[in-house]
Amino acid sequence: VGQNLVTLKEVDSTNSFLKNILSNSKPVPEGTVIMAESQYAGRGQHQNTWHAQPGKNLTFSLLLNPDFLSPTKQFDLTRAVSLGVYDALHPLLGNALKIKWPNDIYVGNRKLGGMLIENMIQGGQIRHSVIGIGLNINQDDYPESAGSAISLRQILHRDYDLKEILSQICSHIEGWYLQLRAGKLDVVRNTYLSRLYRLNEEAYYASNDKPFRGAITNVTETGMLVVVHNGAENTYNLKEITFLNK
Ligand code: BTN
Repeated sequence: VGQNLVTLKEVDSTNSFLKNILSNSKPVPEGTVIMAESQYAGRGQHQNTWHAQPGKNLTFSLLLNPDFLSPTKQFDLTRAVSLGVYDALHPLLGNALKIKWPNDIYVGNRKLGGMLIENMIQGGQIRHSVIGIGLNINQDDYPESAGSAISLRQILHRDYDLKEILSQICSHIEGWYLQLRAGKLDVVRNTYLSRLYRLNEEAYYASNDKPFRGAITNVTETGMLVVVHNGAENTYNLKEITFLNK
């Protein structure tokens, strides 16, 4: 992963760029990384836009072809990629680093980055997975609208070489991807769970606009969040639950 690296000065979105090449049936080697200094239409989860100051942050997409994975196991790829990013950053940030379900990268209660994984399914198999990752690295301020965003520089008070961090991320993602390919689903699932933000901690959530207090106890095989509330277990998909701060 990352041996074939394409750096673009400006692009709409590295995910869209890579998907366009693939849908024009141009061959792209697995592990290719498309990195952009700036994106003018960066995309996040939930149809959000992803903003990052040009040149200061990591915004890239990488291509994997997990044709060994049935579409019901898509979330295992999310887990493996999240763990790769986690392991690359852990030497810098230690245990304050967490994976916020499903695939945000958190430090304490602040968001350091996130990912947008877009799978192209053909003939009942995942042919291509376009894995877009955005990480806040050297930016030193965020607008109010950026919510809980924080950068590595704001936490550790120094600048980082984007390509160096990228190469760490690529090699750790490759490691976890190989675990997945070797069928080590238990290791991937258990490790993901152990890195989870707010695991087994009482905190506030909302579902259908109704706030409640509960604790995350698990993530199901297919990636649903399990929260215990008043002694009862409920499972939620991405659109059914939001994390509240208090
Ligand atoms: C999120 O937290 O909502 C996901 C953010 C994903 C952003 C990255 S930046 C590189 C890639 N290209 C995009 O348009 N989005 C992803």
